[in-house]
Amino acid sequence: MSFTVAIDGPAAAGKGTISKAVAAHFGFAHLDTGLLYRAVGAKVLAGAEPIAAARALDPVDLESDDLRTPAVAQAASEVAVNAGVRAELIEFQRKFSMRPEGAVLDGRDIGTVICPDADVKLFVTASAECRAERRFKELNGKGHDVPYEQVLADVKARDARDSGRATAPLIAAYDAVTIDTSDMTIDAAVSAAIGAVERAKNAIG
Ligand code: C5P
Repeated sequence: MSFTVAIDGPAAAGKGTISKAVAAHFGFAHLDTGLLYRAVGAKVLAGAEPIAAARALDPVDLESDDLRTPAVAQAASEVAVNAGVRAELIEFQRKFSMRPEGAVLDGRDIGTVICPDADVKLFVTASAECRAERRFKELNGKGHDVPYEQVLADVKARDARDSGRATAPLIAAYDAVTIDTSDMTIDAAVSAAIGAVERAKNAIG
């Protein structure tokens, strides 16, 4: 029987780290659904038509090293506004959520649209300034020389676009457990997430 963990939240709130840790702890498969939108965004930057790019998406496309750049992140959040693109990506995500060993999916609309019946839903968030600070350190650590003000402006622009769009906006599911990581260590945030999943598993029996 499958067991699905839905993890949503804004950029750089700690979703990725938490999702990987939860998946490793329970032996579940993990899908970073942002990579789907990034892969489509990268194809659009290269000249493809958005819906056709989403339809033709291959799991191998998700392994490209070039998907983590700020330019691709912005392109991803632009194609993510397109309802046709989102529709093309639903089936892949739902199939993944049924993986027999259990699945963790992280994104923006997993608990609300992709897996509304997920066994446990987490909404991982943090202040825009905290998230920009983390992204700034990460980018500069990888050799991308971007000023903090630029990173903060990008975070806020993506938040506004992700929360304001008509289709599948970024919003906590009514039954999600919220984890605000602004003043938490990574270890504390991971423990809180694992605890929430453990409780949901125990409740099912
Ligand atoms: O999570 P990540 O930063 O990689 O996502 C890139 C962009 O893809 C987000 O800003 C968002 O616009 C979009 N996205 C989405 N729905 C998801 C995952 C990501 O709209 N489930």
